This record gives sequence, structure tokens and C-alpha cells, in this order.
Amino acid sequence: MTTLIDLGSDTATRPSAGMRGFMAEAPVGDEQRQEDPSVNALQDRVAALLGKEAALYLPSATMANEIAVKTHTQSGDAVILEESAHIATAEAGGPALLSGVMLHAVKGTRGVFTPDQVEARIQADNPHYPRTRLVSVEQTANLGGGTVWPLERLRAVADTARRHGLRTHMDGARLMNAVVASGAPAHEQTRGYDSVTLCLTKGLGCPVGALVAGDRAFIKEARRYKHLFGGAMRQAGIIAAAGLYALDHNIERLAEDHTNAKILARGLAEIRGIGIEVEHVETNIVFFDVAGLGITAQEAVARLLARGIRMGATGRTRIRAVTHLDVSQHDVERAVEVAQEVLGKAKAGTPGAE
Ligand SMILES: Cc1ncc(COP(=O)(O)O)c(C=O)c1O
Repeated sequence: MTTLIDLGSDTATRPSAGMRGFMAEAPVGDEQRQEDPSVNALQDRVAALLGKEAALYLPSATMANEIAVKTHTQSGDAVILEESAHIATAEAGGPALLSGVMLHAVKGTRGVFTPDQVEARIQADNPHYPRTRLVSVEQTANLGGGTVWPLERLRAVADTARRHGLRTHMDGARLMNAVVASGAPAHEQTRGYDSVTLCLTKGLGCPVGALVAGDRAFIKEARRYKHLFGGAMRQAGIIAAAGLYALDHNIERLAEDHTNAKILARGLAEIRGIGIEVEHVETNIVFFDVAGLGITAQEAVARLLARGIRMGATGRTRIRAVTHLDVSQHDVERAVEVAQEVLGKAKAGTPGAE
């Protein structure tokens, strides 16, 4: 039996024995009444980590983002964000359904956009136009390739938004990957952003949970929407404890995931016909293109899966592989070996593929 090496997403992580033990021992209370000591401790720690007054524990990063959009906007407003942003592409139309907002997407470079693009997209104050209310950035930019927004760019975008009276949100689902990759502390990266989502279930290795952070007034309002969206829980400390454990044990080690992603990218780059920009692999996400192999991404991922390697097809010929704490360097080297075997041959005999 082949054991699956799951590079499909960093959400594939399972709670470790240490994390499970810590969860089992967690003190709990009624979270809706704000009486759960583990939830309260996690919220305080994350607020401090992100340099914000308060944080709110939630079931998922999707809910954190959607609550942020809802809290910042009114129905009919416009939100500026990058076209590949999770909020725009993978939250089931939540901004339209839950907040009634329009998404004014800009095309960035690998998920990162400029203050000029923000300025150009802001609607003039005219009754014909939707009112631009919010600018949202994604750190790291997932579909951009795990790109790290440079600190100066984050600041410049936030400053521009502020100058125009706009609110700002950071979908920092993978913010800690950006922190480890760049060395810039989380509270520096989030400065100037009115709200920040932090996900616990990706590289941080928790089974559930995310937080949204902001000032006290924002969190007070966000808490209403947490109830409204059905996100208020009861003895949630048992799951929030995983977050406390992750903050102590799973941040620095993200560097290993980044090293493994580079090993994977370099290995894939050796396969003739694979299109990959190794220098753009900045964190734990690797994108590559199989057009040059004369097969579709679906075909490539099926061949890999048949040999125990899971990756995700994200376009006709585009594939995403993500490293995380449940894949070792050895696993990644194995993935490269298998890819060289099953994709290295893809081109042979494929008409017009040379
Ligand atoms: C950038 C980003 N934001 C938000 C989310 C939402 O996380 P969840 O699926 O846990 O709600 C994801 C999930 O992949 C993501 O990649």
C-alpha cells in the first residue's frame, strides 16, 4: 500500500499527538458568554501578535473574511481587491450574498497590486457610482503563488486607502508564512490595516479555527455578525487550545515548509516541458504548468495520484502543490522522483509536444 503524500493543500495537516494532548486538557467554558478561558487566551495572544486591540475566534478563515467585509461595508458598496483573492474566487459569492457588495478587482503581479491601482479603481464621489469602502490584500497571496507582499507595499496600499477614507482588511490566512519568509514581524505587516484574518488550519496545523482581529469597536460589531452567521460556539476551548499550541510550536518550523517547497520546485524544473519559475517560490506554495508536456493538469494530477502523490489542478494546465508540516523533506524528494517518472514520460510520443 502506498501512503499518500498530500501536497494538495496545507489544510491537509492533522493535529499532532502533542496538539491533541493539549486540546484534551484545555479548560473550557461558554464561549458565547465569553467565559471560555482557552478561547479568551487565544484571542488575547492573537490580538497581541497582530498588534490589534482585540481578536475574535471563529470556525474558519472564510467566516473571518466574510465577517470583516460585512463589518466594514454597507450594501451597495465596492471593495477593491486582487482578482485571484480568496474572497473573490473561493468564498461562494459571500460578499454579494452576505454583504451585498460589489467586488472591484484589480489585476496584480502574482497577487500583489500597487497603490496606483487602488487609486485608479476608487470611484469618484458621484451618485451614479457605487461607494468604494474597503481595500483588501491577501498575505501571502495564495493563487499568486504564495507571494509575500513586501512591507513597504503593504504600507503604501494602506496609506493610500486611508488618504481616501477607505477601510482596509488583510486576509492573512498565511500571514505567518510571510512573517517567517520575510522576517518582518506580524504586527509590522498588519500596521495600517483595520482588520486581519489569521487562519489556524493551514501551515499552523490546527484541525479548525481562525481569528479576525481589529480595534475594540470593530470586534464588538464583528461579534454580532459572528452570532448572525452562526459562528458563535459553546465549549470551544477544546478546539481553540489547538491554536494556543500552534502559536508555541508551529510558527518557526514554517521555514522547513519553505525549504521543502524550493526543493520541490527545483526538482520539477528539471523535468523537460514543465513550466515553473523557481525564483518565485517564496513560501510553501508551488505552481507549475504542464502545457509543455502535452497533457492537461487533470491528467498530470491523476498520474501523480495513482502513484501516491496528491497535487491540485487549478487551471487547464496549471497545478498547485503546497508543503506543510505533514510532509517531510523525504516526502518531497519522493514526490520529485515520482513526478520525474510519471511526468518526465508524458511528452514521449505526444504529437506536437516538442
Ligand atoms: C488566502 C485564503 N484565505 C482564506 C481561506 C479560507 O480558509 P477556510 O477554507 O479554512 O475557511 C483560504 C483557504 O484556503 C485561503 O487560502
